[in-house]
Amino acid sequence: MLEISFAPCVLPKSGALALLVPAEASPTGLWAAADEATGGAITRAFAAAEFTGKAGESVTILAPGAGFSRIVATGLGNADELTEHKIAEAGGALAPLLSREGTVALAADGLPAAHAAHAAFGAALRGYRFDIYRTKQKPKDVPNFAALTVLTDDTLAAGKAWETLKAVADGVFVTRDLVSEPANILTPAEMATRIQKLGGLGLEIEVLGQPELEVLGFGSLLGVSQGSAQPPRVVVMRWNGGGDEKPVAFIGKGVTFDTGGISIKPASGMEDMKWDMAGAGAVVGLMAALAGRSAKVNAVGVVGLVENMPGSNAQRPGDVVKSYSGQTIEVLNTDAEGRLVLADVLWYAQEKFDPRFMIDLATLTGAIIVALGHEHGGLFSNNDDLAEKLLAAGAASGERLWRMPMAPEYDKQLKSDIADMKNITGRPGSSITAAHFIARFVNDKPWAHLDIAGTAWATKDSAITPKGATAFGVRLLNQLVADHFEG
Ligand code: BES
Ligand code: MN
Ligand code: ZN
Repeated sequence: MLEISFAPCVLPKSGALALLVPAEASPTGLWAAADEATGGAITRAFAAAEFTGKAGESVTILAPGAGFSRIVATGLGNADELTEHKIAEAGGALAPLLSREGTVALAADGLPAAHAAHAAFGAALRGYRFDIYRTKQKPKDVPNFAALTVLTDDTLAAGKAWETLKAVADGVFVTRDLVSEPANILTPAEMATRIQKLGGLGLEIEVLGQPELEVLGFGSLLGVSQGSAQPPRVVVMRWNGGGDEKPVAFIGKGVTFDTGGISIKPASGMEDMKWDMAGAGAVVGLMAALAGRSAKVNAVGVVGLVENMPGSNAQRPGDVVKSYSGQTIEVLNTDAEGRLVLADVLWYAQEKFDPRFMIDLATLTGAIIVALGHEHGGLFSNNDDLAEKLLAAGAASGERLWRMPMAPEYDKQLKSDIADMKNITGRPGSSITAAHFIARFVNDKPWAHLDIAGTAWATKDSAITPKGATAFGVRLLNQLVADHFEG
């Protein structure tokens, strides 16, 4: 990760300087000092570029004088509408402008300490790279700068705020690392092994293998897994930071590769299904973040890890399986496998931990991409209070959700001719009927389901997220816990 430090507001004499500029503002503080030191180069550049500090706009000034290699500025938008998330986005927008610089000084004078830390947070998140498989990369091919010194009025408070945010960024990177891995490397067993390594953060970790899952009767999850040579895993992570209160629970779909099974997917784009474990990945990163920042909460994360393959022992369309809850399922389409995995892990989580609420994350349906595109995750819930809190956490963190409807008419469509339910319905509203399927494995608990099929992976860069694995859900649910469920 980008190395972050905080220092008092003294204008540096060399290197790169980054400015955060509110809309329609006049130079003050370090900005004014740098402008004066460079003989007005900043004012002239802003005028030439018609830069007025709008959010999303930026300017680069190369070799402006006074010893600077470059000065970059990015707009914050209206000063009175500034939020932590907007500051993080501005910090993120700066990162690619500073390629090949050594140490960069970021002027955060005049901003609250929390904002100074969020600017660093954004820059660190944007600077993420997954390049472990590039064997021919030379240092000069790596575009990022290595160290950021944030100049702030209160180094102590900003440093403290950063400690918390750094743990969250580390959690985001745990998720991005897992989700980026190809499926030949990240099998269910390998993912479980990597989760176990997070025990160092103080998480209690338990891994259930195939024999244990058979004894427990996870027939729905095992049906998905049986066509693969890779054995399944269920991993339970516990963070006990909240005394003797009941835990909150997060459950993740972890299909390390989804071929569709016998209901096989078309070849085009199938490589995307390496990130069909992004729900589980987000749960793991969230648990790492909560542990890393010593959150005052009891939290449990449960992930169901399987590979969905069309092997000779694969389940067939029409098979009937018995879930851990005892309910039977007619599997009419082996590609609707995420709900079959969640069915067993959700029932297990509530039976074993009696949580205050359960939130599941899953790259569950292509239909949610049709409905919401890539800008919002789909939110389904049986509890208005939990849903409101999630929507608010989404707005604050920038990982936005949109609530989708649920109603008995959708649930009715799950009726099977042979078993308690079938695993698919017709195409109309199929993200909603998928949510209703999952809801049948929730026993009167406050519950929310986040369909992140459209938000788990980005095909282009954005302010704080380089293209690739987004870790959608980690910052969102960390925000939810921080705002409502600590202390
Ligand atoms: N993993 C997919 C959903 C998905 C699609 C995630 C695109 C990310 C991008 C899921 O297992 C799936 O195959 N869903 C089917 C359900 C259908 C068979 C009812 C779908 O969405 O087509
Ligand atoms: Mn599928
Ligand atoms: Zn899937």
